[in-house]
Amino acid sequence: MKTKVLVTGGAGFIGSNLVESLINKVDEIIIVDDLSMGLKSNLPSSNKISFYEKSITDYKFMKELLVNERPDYIFLLGAVASVADSVAHPIYTHEVNQNANLFILETIRQNKIKIKKILFASSAAVYGDVVELPKRENSEVRPLTPYAIDKFATERFVIDYGKLYGLPTVAVRFFNVYGPKQNPKSPYSGVLSIISDKIINDKCFTIFGNGEQTRDFVFVDDVIHALLLLIDSDLALNTVYNIATGRAVSLNQVLSSYEIVTGKTLAIDYSTPRSGDIEHSLADISKITSLGFVPKYDITSGLAKYWQSLTDK
Ligand code: NAD
Ligand code: UD1
Repeated sequence: MKTKVLVTGGAGFIGSNLVESLINKVDEIIIVDDLSMGLKSNLPSSNKISFYEKSITDYKFMKELLVNERPDYIFLLGAVASVADSVAHPIYTHEVNQNANLFILETIRQNKIKIKKILFASSAAVYGDVVELPKRENSEVRPLTPYAIDKFATERFVIDYGKLYGLPTVAVRFFNVYGPKQNPKSPYSGVLSIISDKIINDKCFTIFGNGEQTRDFVFVDDVIHALLLLIDSDLALNTVYNIATGRAVSLNQVLSSYEIVTGKTLAIDYSTPRSGDIEHSLADISKITSLGFVPKYDITSGLAKYWQSLTDK
């Protein structure tokens, strides 16, 4: 039987890595991305891919696409992924990060489209400044920004569409994902894409704070394995999973590992901590490991593969 997959945000960092891995596994991949952050050049050239440079808020387009194409699986990755943008433009980002996803769910329901599974990308941002560590899926949530509020609410909508209307769903909370194709263009881009960009261009990297803040950095290949596991598993139904490694490293540790991997010494300066920055973030990943997920990369092997992708070009 032919398998058709829709990926919103498929030209972005995580989306394009997912598409690359899906190419050999499915028959057809439909991508909707407005290229506000993603790049067409992130995508492999393949006649299995249909690419639409459209916004998921173009409701007429999205309805026609869903009704005509009737995909088997949907990955909802399209979002304004920058927290700072959500603080600057809360109404616009709410439209993209929540309403457009709700419209997709409702179109599927109203048109009785038989979906095998729909997966939504939420964020560790939903935990906000909750101090409990490690963060479990049933820990308190304290979303502190429009981005985090929309992610949490949409995650609940997705899961509720599963429970109320029988649509098979799953949601994931990504921790700090890094790897090839992450776009360093914003000051709020993932810190590892910024550090990589500074190393390549021989520029100075600014640490906000003393570098002792810790994060659960997860390499994108592990993230893709987790997504494929969850979309396939009948046990992962109408619930949310942390996606991370279950290990935290400090920014200072990351920098020394990256110096070893690249053989370069990075110029560093220090600035005051970012307002609202949390000190420590770490996931409990026992829920997803109980399904068989094992993260393969630690920070050193992940950085080595990331660096190789940057220098191979
Ligand atoms: P990204 O910005 O690279 O990918 C998001 C993609 O969505 C981009 O290609 C962008 O062009 C596209 N997009 C934005 N607005 C759109 C719109 N209106 N219509 C269609 N496409 C639109 O970010 P990413 O890191 O790949 O994130 C993927 C998903 O994972 C996002 O939902 C993000 O919020 C979530 N997430 C990522 C991380 C991380 O560490 N990278 C952490 C938590 C959550
Ligand atoms: C991440 C998410 C954010 C989410 C938050 C919730 C990303 C890119 N961001 O933020 O959406 O709200 O988790 O937990 O995944 N840093 C520097 N110098 C720089 C850039 C960053 O020192 O030039 C520091 C930051 O201050 C922070 C750490 O590096 O302490 C990591 O920063 P970043 O990659 O932006 O991720 P989070 O702050 O964890």
